[in-house]
Amino acid sequence: MKIAVFSTKPYDRDFLNRANHALPNPHELIFHEVQLNANSALLAQDCQVVCCFVNDHLDAGVLQQLATLGIKLIALRCAGFNQVDLAAAKNLGLLVARVAEYSPHAVAEHALGLILMLNRNLHRAYHRTRENDYSLNGLLGFDMVNKTVAVIGTGKIGEVFATIVRGLGCKVIAHDPQPNPALVAAGVPFVPLAELWPQADIISLHCPLNSHTHHLINRDSIATMKDGVMLINTGRGGLIDTRAVISGLKSKKIGYLGLDVYEEEGDLFFEDNSNRLLQDDVFARLLTFPNVVVTGHQAFFTREALAAIARVTFENIDHFEQGELDQVCLVN
Ligand code: NAI
Repeated sequence: MKIAVFSTKPYDRDFLNRANHALPNPHELIFHEVQLNANSALLAQDCQVVCCFVNDHLDAGVLQQLATLGIKLIALRCAGFNQVDLAAAKNLGLLVARVAEYSPHAVAEHALGLILMLNRNLHRAYHRTRENDYSLNGLLGFDMVNKTVAVIGTGKIGEVFATIVRGLGCKVIAHDPQPNPALVAAGVPFVPLAELWPQADIISLHCPLNSHTHHLINRDSIATMKDGVMLINTGRGGLIDTRAVISGLKSKKIGYLGLDVYEEEGDLFFEDNSNRLLQDDVFARLLTFPNVVVTGHQAFFTREALAAIARVTFENIDHFEQGELDQVCLVN
């Protein structure tokens, strides 16, 4: 099968090539560094499958172009699918498969990394000691034990994250329209958001981005949070109204912010932009706060996760070849 693989970096090619060559009948992979969008869709000509990542543009227009080119399957190399117009895909008869689970541990552990970094000011300590500065002013942290950590979204990643922070002695509260049975059994209270905001010392987002969760963190929800709350977002950028968060940081309502995702990350992340001027003034303002740590959508980025992404992507394509995917749009 001929597959157009978009938004690829050397590490993607490495893991996909290894998994492909281990197949009895390897596919023909056409790697493209560029994102899939209206200008690049033509690169999928002569292919049956496009393989995409988080910031590829799969809106109705691009999907129409792909359908016209004869593409039958969109194989996402990620868990989130908010970048795909699923209704349009269904109308066009395009199948959509994703890697629903590759390593919930990778993302949950990264969220913990952001929490500890912000709490103990590791990002500042790193620079101080390299400057021969061993002063402790401004580095004061807090014990994690007995702090209330709110987990929003208790699917695969939220469950692992909740388990990790419970191991640190934190009290976990959660919100999810479909409460995780294992966490319910473990005695984790599931509460409405209005009850969750004022209780939490740390809030970590692990729900998908959709019309219900867009700007879940906004001026109103921030107003009801504890003073000095820590916000962690490894979900999707659009869960947070960035301007409202900046106001919260300026007023000290928000004491710490850890982001692995950003609303407008599509034009920034996964690229070395160090020789370019940063044009996004909102993002630039975020980077000025000493109590903000941003990583560039790297929470998933472990060896185990990349190997699993490659393996499951080819399993999805195999199911498609065997005619085992529904004739309607599928998100497995
Ligand atoms: P999942 O599908 O296993 O769990 C999502 C959970 O969110 C479900 O339990 C669902 O009921 C819940 N949910 C849905 N609507 C909600 C709402 N309005 N409020 C609260 N909870 C709600 O997904 P998984 O694998 O745990 O991933 C979660 C998200 O993490 C993904 O949607 C994706 O956006 C993000 N992600 C980020 C990565 C990164 O590298 N930063 C990597 C992988 C995923």
